[in-house]
Amino acid sequence: MTKPQHTVIFQPSGRRGKVEDGATILEASRKLGGSIESVCGGKGTCGKCKVKIEQGRFHKYGINSSIDSVEAIAAHNEEFLTPKQLRDGYRLACQTHIHGDVVIFVPEESRKAQQVVRKEATARDIKLKPAVKKYYVEMPPATLHDSLGDSERLQAALASAHKMEGLKVDYTVLTTLPGVVRQEDWKATVSVWKGREIIGVAAGKKERGYGLAVDIGTTTVAGYLCDLGSGEVLATDAMMNPQVSYGEDVMSRIGYAVKGKNGLKQLQRAIIKGLNEIARRAAAKAGLRRTDIVDMAVVGNTCMHHIFLGIDPRNLGRAPFTPAVHHSVDVKARDLGLKVAPGAYVHVLPIEAGFVGADNVGVLIAEEPYNQDEMVLIIDIGTNGELIMGNRNKLLSSSCATGPAFEGAEIRHGMRASPGAIEKIKIDPKTKEVEFKVIGNDAWNTGTKAIGARGICGSGIFDAAAQMFLAGIIDKGGRFNTGIKSDRLHNDGDEPEFVIARAAETAIGQDIVVCQKDIRAIQLAKGAMYSGARIMMNKLGIAKIDRVILAGAFGSYIDKMSAAVIGLFPDCDPARVVAVGNAAGDGARMALLNTDKRAEADKRAREVAYVELTIEPDFNKAFTQALNFPHQTDEFPHLKGILPEQK
Ligand code: FES
Repeated sequence: MTKPQHTVIFQPSGRRGKVEDGATILEASRKLGGSIESVCGGKGTCGKCKVKIEQGRFHKYGINSSIDSVEAIAAHNEEFLTPKQLRDGYRLACQTHIHGDVVIFVPEESRKAQQVVRKEATARDIKLKPAVKKYYVEMPPATLHDSLGDSERLQAALASAHKMEGLKVDYTVLTTLPGVVRQEDWKATVSVWKGREIIGVAAGKKERGYGLAVDIGTTTVAGYLCDLGSGEVLATDAMMNPQVSYGEDVMSRIGYAVKGKNGLKQLQRAIIKGLNEIARRAAAKAGLRRTDIVDMAVVGNTCMHHIFLGIDPRNLGRAPFTPAVHHSVDVKARDLGLKVAPGAYVHVLPIEAGFVGADNVGVLIAEEPYNQDEMVLIIDIGTNGELIMGNRNKLLSSSCATGPAFEGAEIRHGMRASPGAIEKIKIDPKTKEVEFKVIGNDAWNTGTKAIGARGICGSGIFDAAAQMFLAGIIDKGGRFNTGIKSDRLHNDGDEPEFVIARAAETAIGQDIVVCQKDIRAIQLAKGAMYSGARIMMNKLGIAKIDRVILAGAFGSYIDKMSAAVIGLFPDCDPARVVAVGNAAGDGARMALLNTDKRAEADKRAREVAYVELTIEPDFNKAFTQALNFPHQTDEFPHLKGILPEQK
């Protein structure tokens, strides 16, 4: 029996359509484009999906909307909504089912903001040895006396002009070959993959080949369109990972993928559609067509890797966290639904361990710590923190669940790095007055001008914690110093909070604050990173790190001193802390342009020893000590004179 359908209208976007009886408001939003934030992926644990059920007769739409049109799961709603909000018709979109026509208002703070995707390619010296090379051939025309098949004729020409023999021919090449070879009088350019297979043939002389390197992040996806002959990046394109609406972090994605029969398919379709769009846009920027792309290299964390390839990711989420495959994978792009050259392959880089994925291998081959003498710590900060430590003698990797705090989730006024997000904060240690800067506005706020702040993003959260610590608003243990005199310090609620932006400076009409719970979330996230690094140092038997590399787009935007002051990593000379941008994407580019790098990735990924932090006997102690700002017992000689004196 088919279920009844109800009309749903989202405000203020005006998106509307029909959904089946019993669907949640969040599901309706995904279907109709209501753009509701869903940080926890609809599990009812983040409280970010608050919406208001409008009541009354809506003549414009010809419907009556009422709170009786929905049925909410009481427990979750009561956890995140005040009694007044519940009375006013607010509900959690993911925990409320639709049973009648309804008009839903999505308030500003629950609207999914377009993340600012900052993943520029970094200038790197890359030796060129692409997997796909182009060969120009001239064939003798077919005659009654020489009626060799077109494919064999092409092979013979390749053998005589370029000494290439016994090549496999991709089936799609055959489908167009007769027309192509005759189009320019038996002159053609052949794309050959790894010297083994003809993956494309074009009429005439077209010796330039193009490839796309892709970094699939949990939150953002970036593509770099490269000239395979010169290595030049011709165009870059990026977008938010379209899977974000199914859950913010990898665990929610795994949860969604294994839910129902179509979860994995839906997620895979979403990313493939996104990549097709990136390929289209990047090609258009370079004056090309998507089908001019003859090779692709892809990196992503283990979960993104599995979903991209359509592999069930459930085992990644449970001990012993085994991936389906460690080794790199070459797969026909068309088999995944990618609309590049029909014969093209996609090279997916290898995986190191359960949570240390191909993105980390990208960082590894881009930074090459295995060729260095100094002790390097590479930190890739994301929803999941990944660490590599060591040098040419030994390399360790580990991963730690930082939680989404650094990306702005689970923080009272946290948000993604999108316009209006406070990204930099300075606090005067004497007056406790605050200056801040929001994304999309170059001017620093001076406390008077309304600059429309909407929340605080990851880099702002680093600054907030560091600056509050340096100004004595919080102590080494993260506790608020409630004795200080400042009208920005509120002690009246359940927990103390410090006002970063006053209501008049915001677009949400209320103070943007950092509260005790937020500081705790930051401590947990940074403590996970620090303790991971500490355990790796102990394993390597080293007392100091020579260099810290902050990888990941996020690493380029956080303030290095703020990261050092809160204790994201053990002591290191600040001059030797460097941000390298999207090293994972750079690694993908290197693998695209140089097959030796692909071999290097397979070899090095297997050499790195993975440390499962949570089973280390001293993990709990290391973690507890690392919760302090910057650490309970470790010394920070390089921060002398910067850190406040502690009693
Ligand atoms: S509580 Fe609804 S999406 Fe997180």
